[in-house]
Amino acid sequence: MRILYVTSEAFPLVKTGGLADVSGSLPAALKHLGADARILIPGYPQVLANLRDPQPLIELKWLPAIGNVQLIGGHMPDTGVPVIVIEHRDLYDRSGGPYSDTLGQEWGDNALRFGILSRIAAILSSKISPLVDWIPDIVHFNDWQAGLTAAYMRYSGAPHAKSVLGIHNLAFQGNFPPEWVEKLGLPRQAFAPEGLEFYGHLSFLKAGIYYADAITTVSPSYAREIQTAEYGFGLQGLLAHRARDIHGILNGIDTQEWNPAKDPYLPQNYDGNSLDKKVRVKQALQQRSGLHEDAAAPLLGVVSRLTHQKGLDLLLHCAPALLEQGCQLALLGSGDPALEQGFMLLAQQHPRQVSVSIGYNEALSHHIMAGADMFVMPSRFEPCGLNQMYGLRYGTPPVVRRTGGLADSVMDTNEFTLNRKTATGFVFDLATPEDLLATLLRALASYGDKNQWSAIQTNGMKTDLDWNRSAQAYLEIYRSL
Ligand code: ADP
Ligand code: GLC
Repeated sequence: MRILYVTSEAFPLVKTGGLADVSGSLPAALKHLGADARILIPGYPQVLANLRDPQPLIELKWLPAIGNVQLIGGHMPDTGVPVIVIEHRDLYDRSGGPYSDTLGQEWGDNALRFGILSRIAAILSSKISPLVDWIPDIVHFNDWQAGLTAAYMRYSGAPHAKSVLGIHNLAFQGNFPPEWVEKLGLPRQAFAPEGLEFYGHLSFLKAGIYYADAITTVSPSYAREIQTAEYGFGLQGLLAHRARDIHGILNGIDTQEWNPAKDPYLPQNYDGNSLDKKVRVKQALQQRSGLHEDAAAPLLGVVSRLTHQKGLDLLLHCAPALLEQGCQLALLGSGDPALEQGFMLLAQQHPRQVSVSIGYNEALSHHIMAGADMFVMPSRFEPCGLNQMYGLRYGTPPVVRRTGGLADSVMDTNEFTLNRKTATGFVFDLATPEDLLATLLRALASYGDKNQWSAIQTNGMKTDLDWNRSAQAYLEIYRSL
């Protein structure tokens, strides 16, 4: 089985969020199961710098609007998964991130930058692909950035691979003014409700949903939720129409990269049999963050994009009540200026109880995950969420809202789940500060009972979070196509 996995980010080449983690580990898990999975990704400077044994593959000539493109072959640094990189100076050789410049402003030509990613994915998935010795059976194209892949395949006229759209977040749709249809070389008649059009715009994600042979998303709950008005971002009708082709498969995690027993970012390693050592990680975190060095103070951790999705405004609202209870907070993230400022102000007012780091920091994210006592993730919606799973693995019970992948991966603590040894965290229903606070207070009560707390930690650490089972589920879908 040959699979072309099309993505705009992949860890450790380049990462802004969970899509990179999944793109780094799912193709490797597929490879482990005997499939021949290759990654297709734009050649941002970070990607070209981190790629292992890069070699020119072929040149694609005379592409509309951009001219010639060089494809570079190489491998992922740690897993050895083959990678095909699209090298094009004008499109991708820029400082800043994959989607925006150094000031956080989105690139004005993202329609072109990712239209080309989709277009090349379609070219390589054709049965008359220029890569004559490697023609995929399946093209798995992810999120809006690769969303036009199946549309290009349909209109190329050539026989091609089966296509699967992977939805990681329906909130980002890649909607652009209609002029782009022709600029991107798509037929004008395709700009219709049965096609590329979405409320007067060209929608990359809608096109993917419309043209893909099958659709996957990253948890069973999210697969159901996106077919409702509450979570569908306007696409619920089309998604419900395609319900039979939608598969919700819970993400796994990279258990090598996220392993408290081996994690090089931690000042002290530990595992399920040496949980007492975790307190040293906590002390080091308190020290480095300027927090009061108190082993008994419940330390809440957050690592997150600071956006409406993540519901951290709810935490900001109930923070005063939590601080009164003697809690500490270590937060790492960036995003909405208002949220950044709100948390920074809180840290200024309570420097020994609250530490806020604005920015992106891989090392600190691991340290918080291990050093915190509990991990807070009050998302309004969450397609899957990886951090709560990292929390489980690190003996840092997650406090989460019952939505999407959070609902599918965290088991609330109550008498029943404690007896059955399945309690792994704390789950609340309403996206309100009151419900979050009540649940955090419940978690604090549990934290006060050392036996109960270590039982919850241990249950979480024993959870099967590996990619293996999910990768098999993906293979079954590919086979069925
Ligand atoms: P999303 O992709 O919606 O942001 P996920 O929970 O799926 O949410 O994945 C987020 C990933 O990004 C995790 O690996 C998390 O550790 C990482 N991450 C988020 N913000 C930061 C940050 N400021 N610094 C370091 N890592 C971060
Ligand atoms: C998106 C979602 C997140 C998910 C990740 C990987 O970024 O917001 O919930 O875990 O993709 O699938």
